[in-house]
Amino acid sequence: MAGSSDVRIGTRVEPRLWLLIGAVTAAAAALFLASSARHPLSDSRDSLAQLGFWTVVALVTSSFPVSTPRGSVVSVSIAPILASGFLGGPTAAAIVGFVGILEVRELRGEVPWYGTLYNHCSTLIAAVLGVLVYSATVGHSANPWAPRTLAVAMLAGLVFFVVAEVLAAASVAIRQGRALRAVIANDVRAYGMTFLGLVPLAWLMAFTYELIGPLVTLVFALPLYTTRAAYRSVVELRHMFTQTVRALASAIDARDPSTKRHSEHVSGIAVEIGQELGLREADLEVLEWGGLFHDIGKIGISDAVLLKPGRLDRDERVQMNQHPVKGAEILANADRLSAVVPLVRFHHEWYNGSGYPDRLIGEEIPLLARILAVADAFEAMTAVRPYQPVPKSLEKALTELRRCAGTQFDPQVVDAFMRTRTARGEGEISADPERDMRPPTATGSALEHPPLVPSNSAQTR
Ligand SMILES: [Fe+2]
Repeated sequence: MAGSSDVRIGTRVEPRLWLLIGAVTAAAAALFLASSARHPLSDSRDSLAQLGFWTVVALVTSSFPVSTPRGSVVSVSIAPILASGFLGGPTAAAIVGFVGILEVRELRGEVPWYGTLYNHCSTLIAAVLGVLVYSATVGHSANPWAPRTLAVAMLAGLVFFVVAEVLAAASVAIRQGRALRAVIANDVRAYGMTFLGLVPLAWLMAFTYELIGPLVTLVFALPLYTTRAAYRSVVELRHMFTQTVRALASAIDARDPSTKRHSEHVSGIAVEIGQELGLREADLEVLEWGGLFHDIGKIGISDAVLLKPGRLDRDERVQMNQHPVKGAEILANADRLSAVVPLVRFHHEWYNGSGYPDRLIGEEIPLLARILAVADAFEAMTAVRPYQPVPKSLEKALTELRRCAGTQFDPQVVDAFMRTRTARGEGEISADPERDMRPPTATGSALEHPPLVPSNSAQTR
């Protein structure tokens, strides 16, 4: 189903997540018992054959889920689950929903047992509640071709989608420390409409099954397959592009061994801040790529300047400060990256107008560039650099960001950063084993290159 949560092995399970899993499991069991009592399954051979048929169709559609970039899994099995419910009632939908979403990766042990349990129970709850709306409103002997029946089927699909999405998003929100609303908003924008588009298909499948027979229903496997293929090609294309971008970014970082994975870290932190601010998926993507590309202009800076351990003199600083402009020029011709160009150009602008290269002030600086500036500064402060052999501790870096909020940084962005996992010391950055091997950070006075114009900067090169 769309939006099932992609709980993977190795994830630390928080107590809140255990509570959620327990509550959802208990609710699913109670709903199933209540549904079996009020809407018992018919034990006729036809009904059992029907149940078997829809379960197999659901299993086939679930076998090839598509993982989306930020933790959800999309499959098209809502169609057979709802179809089984339209014909056989909520208990049938519960069984098809619970059994039919079994995936190969679950059988291979790639999903922890509690993740499997949670996903299956969530789908059962969504299926029962959705189909109950249908059963209570039109029953199962209604004229299937009446417009009202389709309208009620759409409503049932909407209930299914909302329940499944809220439950999936709740687990993603807990695991990733994100706001529930932001996770839901992103998922709905990403695939809500396509998902609801599967409901009329479920309705058609149900009634062709009843009126003509199961074999004809299989004709609908084609639109299900093409829908899944469309999801997949979008996700794969994006994945390929991001991998290429990452390869390029690591080539930039590789020139200076001390900035290893800098761009990747900046990208991750920027996305975290964007998520905290509730930005749209499209903006998060621009932040992700902007983080990876922000220093691409350093390709044009000579080693003598880039790798210089001491202070830069005035000419060297002038050369170094050209990297945002050079970077923007490099990316200017890539249409797909046009949204990233302003981030690259403006990531060293200051909120009070004393940054470079264009001395933009306040909200003249695009929000995404203001976010990138905070992510870049935090990453640079907590990393070893030629000019900063002893990195700042997490606490000192946070204090520095707070101190510079309103002058160098947008205070709202700094506030949002303070709420991220990275700022709370739970993020990937602080969990990076290489970082743990860096020198102790209690001593302050990091050797910082003063910028050409601004002073008192938390930023580095
Ligand atoms: Fe930079």
